[in-house]
Amino acid sequence: MGEYIMKIAIYPGSFDPITNGHIDIIKRASSLFDKLIIGVTDDNNKESMFDIHERVAMIEGVVTDYDNVNVQTFNGLLIDFAKLKSAVVIIRGLRVLSDFEYEFKMAMMNRRLSQKVDTLFLMPSIQYVHISSSLIKEVAILGGDISTYVPRNILDKIKRKISAKK
Ligand code: PNS
Repeated sequence: MGEYIMKIAIYPGSFDPITNGHIDIIKRASSLFDKLIIGVTDDNNKESMFDIHERVAMIEGVVTDYDNVNVQTFNGLLIDFAKLKSAVVIIRGLRVLSDFEYEFKMAMMNRRLSQKVDTLFLMPSIQYVHISSSLIKEVAILGGDISTYVPRNILDKIKRKISAKK
């Protein structure tokens, strides 16, 4: 019998901030793989609400129930981070049809960059298919109720951030 090789997956994103939609995907992916690394990076095209250390701390605070999940930051190409971590799969959440084109292009590009890593799409529960960190931030900044879309402690952090900026 050969040695068992741990199946490691990476769930990358900017997580600005983590939402219940992300947590739903984390739950699904962590049950499919031996180890799940949440890879947090800066999206250079977007100004973030939370800095990368705040985002990591927020994620760590909500994934404590999952023993095989850990949170790390990365810079540069996702595929290089995946190779560095010996991951065989990149996890991406797929919500509505409009996600598809962007996700398809990224998956194909990442495949071109490495044949050893595949992208696996998971769909969240129906109550989260329409949400994104950007939409949640926009609604929160304009005073709307986002309490069903983020955990309680994340909601408090968003509110605090918004009132500090006023
Ligand atoms: O939070 P997002 O915007 O859904 O995540 C996008 C992310 C971070 C996965 C993507 O921008 C990415 O992979 N960035 C790292 C740089 C990289 O590898 N770019 C080429 C992708 S084919």
